[in-house]
Amino acid sequence: MKILAFESSCDETAAAVVVDGRDVKSNIVSSQIAIHRLYGGVVPEIASRKHAEVISAITKEALETAGCGFKDIDAVAVTYAPGLIGALLVGVNFAKGLAMSLDVPLVPVHHLRSHIAANYIAHKELEPPFLCLVASGGHSHIVEVRSHTDFCVLGRTRDDAAGEAFDKAARSLGFPYPGGVFIDKAAHEGNAAAVVFPRPKVDGSPFDFSFSGLKTAVINYVHNAEQKGMEINKNDVAASFQQAVVDMLAARLMLAAERTGYKKIAVAGGVAANSGLRERLGADCAQPGYSLYMPPLSLCGDNGAMVGCQGYYEYLAGNTAGLELNACANMEIDSLK
Ligand code: KG4
Ligand code: ZN
Repeated sequence: MKILAFESSCDETAAAVVVDGRDVKSNIVSSQIAIHRLYGGVVPEIASRKHAEVISAITKEALETAGCGFKDIDAVAVTYAPGLIGALLVGVNFAKGLAMSLDVPLVPVHHLRSHIAANYIAHKELEPPFLCLVASGGHSHIVEVRSHTDFCVLGRTRDDAAGEAFDKAARSLGFPYPGGVFIDKAAHEGNAAAVVFPRPKVDGSPFDFSFSGLKTAVINYVHNAEQKGMEINKNDVAASFQQAVVDMLAARLMLAAERTGYKKIAVAGGVAANSGLRERLGADCAQPGYSLYMPPLSLCGDNGAMVGCQGYYEYLAGNTAGLELNACANMEIDSLK
């Protein structure tokens, strides 16, 4: 089954052609980062406009790269939640129009479900059930993946997402938006033991995260140094901050694995690209019986291939939509089985 898939939930416009869920024929991503960087973060109104400008062109490119035309498409999948509402609406309306004109099923896809599905593309043998850490710019969840379309959230952030903490810490250090990758690079040159940052826990909820105290600690550290006229070593601060985030993410994930008995572990979302996190989980999952699945860096961030993959499983589960489909800014990953 050949699915044409769209993603426009934030600042990447993406289209892909995916066959039977895991065979990616094309995966075109048009990033708006350079524009939003001027403002230090995503400007929702600009994001929507840019999606509308490029979506037709990237659709054409996705079809051409896949060596097919509209007539070969069996279904259209699209990210419909969660995300920036105006941005989501561009993809949803475009997908609706296409599905209607091609007379093929329309498959709505939850953004976090598709991040998890990036692992199916990279690891052809991977099947649920498994435990997955989903860490992106907007979410940080520990998810029990019971089947391709049945999820249970075991832990979540109570405040900032991990990616958001990376981006805000990076901003205070003077790195461009989005700062996660700059912290990652700087951390390689720094000493992770140089600054002791807090690793907050959530009382009574061992699998939940809280990143806002850590983020504030970095901002305060930088401001205090500025006020005292002291030079800070950016690499050391980046390394110490990253170590704290990685400690929190990995400790909660491995505790959840131990308590639930899952030994198949996966990671997904933009923060899954972090080299410190990948290295740490590689070491943690090196114990007997454990296996670790991570998407390649190219599939960690937002893309259309992951939507095409999850869209296939949603289609098989009967989760298609009519033209009444609407976009939704907020939606739980387990709201639909
Ligand atoms: O999944 P994603 O592309 O978009 C959302 O759904 O939010 O995630 C973007 C987030 C940003 O916060 C970005 O800074 C972070 O992922 N990120 C990283 C790295 N690469 C991207 N964070 C830490 N280390 C990285 N190498
Ligand atoms: Zn994402």
